[in-house]
Amino acid sequence: MESIMKLSDESLFKCKGYIDGRWEDAKSGETFEVSDPATGTVVAACPDMNNLDVVLAIEAAKRAQVLFGKSSAYSRSKMLQDWAGLMLANKEDLARIVTVENGKPLAEARGEIAYAAAFLTWFAEEAIRIQGETVRTNVDSHRVVTVREPVGVCGLITPWNFPAAMITRKAGPAIAAGCTTVVKAPGETPLTALALAELAERAGIPGGVFNVVTTLKYTPEVGRTITTSPIVRKISFTGSTTVGRLLCEQSSSTIKKMSLELGGLAPFIVFDDADIEAAVAGAVVSKFRASGQTCVCANTMFVHRSVYDRFAKGLIEVVKTFKVGNGLHSDTTHGPLIHQKAVSKVSEHVQDALEKGATVVVGGNVLPELGPTFFEPTVILNATLDMKFTQEEIFGPLAGIVSFETEEEVLAAVNRSEYGLAAYFYSRDISRCWRVAERLDVGMVGVNSGIVSNPASPFGGVKQSGYGREGSKQGIDEYTTVKSITFTV
Ligand code: SIN
Repeated sequence: MESIMKLSDESLFKCKGYIDGRWEDAKSGETFEVSDPATGTVVAACPDMNNLDVVLAIEAAKRAQVLFGKSSAYSRSKMLQDWAGLMLANKEDLARIVTVENGKPLAEARGEIAYAAAFLTWFAEEAIRIQGETVRTNVDSHRVVTVREPVGVCGLITPWNFPAAMITRKAGPAIAAGCTTVVKAPGETPLTALALAELAERAGIPGGVFNVVTTLKYTPEVGRTITTSPIVRKISFTGSTTVGRLLCEQSSSTIKKMSLELGGLAPFIVFDDADIEAAVAGAVVSKFRASGQTCVCANTMFVHRSVYDRFAKGLIEVVKTFKVGNGLHSDTTHGPLIHQKAVSKVSEHVQDALEKGATVVVGGNVLPELGPTFFEPTVILNATLDMKFTQEEIFGPLAGIVSFETEEEVLAAVNRSEYGLAAYFYSRDISRCWRVAERLDVGMVGVNSGIVSNPASPFGGVKQSGYGREGSKQGIDEYTTVKSITFTV
């Protein structure tokens, strides 16, 4: 199929799976359509790979693991650096692919490519610092050393909301550690994954080390094959808690190492002593990044009663300046949602809030003149904790503001959640900053910051938001096992 993306390098437009260093159709010959969420236009047909194809990818990864696991950390570091360099050199094309299949505006897509490449650079630098220890024991004649070894073949199951960055955040540390990988690309956004495979090949990453399986109809089957395969020694998954739970169950039959980055329900808290302008700016990025479709997006906003009106006024003013449209248009600040199901969920949240007494002050509607996937950035006031959106991940551009009176009350409300990925709060009182950061039951806290994501910072949650850390120096531990070696002297 011809690319309609107008790339400067058309060879980045790939519509085949990438297995063992070769571009492959599905053995069945089946394909699925990839559509632009902004227009509904079909932009590609990719192989709908099933069990047969993913088994081949796993076997290719197993064969490649033998040599790659023993390769020098310096050579792996160089491959990752080169891969990152190629991503940056092809940033415009990659960003266009992201925008066309995911919908996010070009400026945001460019930001994602830079973010994605930064994971490769970070882990290129970590690759050469995978070190062991010497250990004293209570047996005088014993000397113990530890070495860290690659865990082996890794199954990487990635989401559509960051078509590039969620792949490099997993494949970067895997390759740095000497692991081979099978990526199950999301059905909505396989084209970015395949473009990354093309660049991985150009960067000299050997065939079999980075495999990409594309599938839509067979997603459950492919997931089951990866999780139950005795060859796959580690699973890294980013997605919903429901699917994470299922993958966990399936993986238990072969006792795999797992990292699960699951649902969030991030509270965004503004205390009475906050810098309100800064809090508004933080709320805008935390809530409306990717039109609210990230797992660390602010879910419910809790604002102290005494600053409620000022904060709400500031937020409303900014949201009114947003320009919703096709992500390829230069004036668009917010694109479509990924599909109509996502729009229905936000609509339901708005409807439920209205029925329970909230007031919509900006937005609140689908934008049919733009298309069925467009939903207005929305602000809801007078929200209360019995409203559905406060208990479910919104994953859309809806900011609902609840008012609170005391620190105790707001902490009790947010810590009741079964999720614990990220939380944000604004305060100028340094004691409160420490106290609240320590008391929040989450994996990541933004203190006077609406952003917690950075390749150097450990990313992950607690409770039903999952376990394991991505990015950061801890991120590479997830792809190694520690072996202790005891010598008698
Ligand atoms: C995610 O939504 O899963 C990732 C968000 C991020 O890296 O900031």
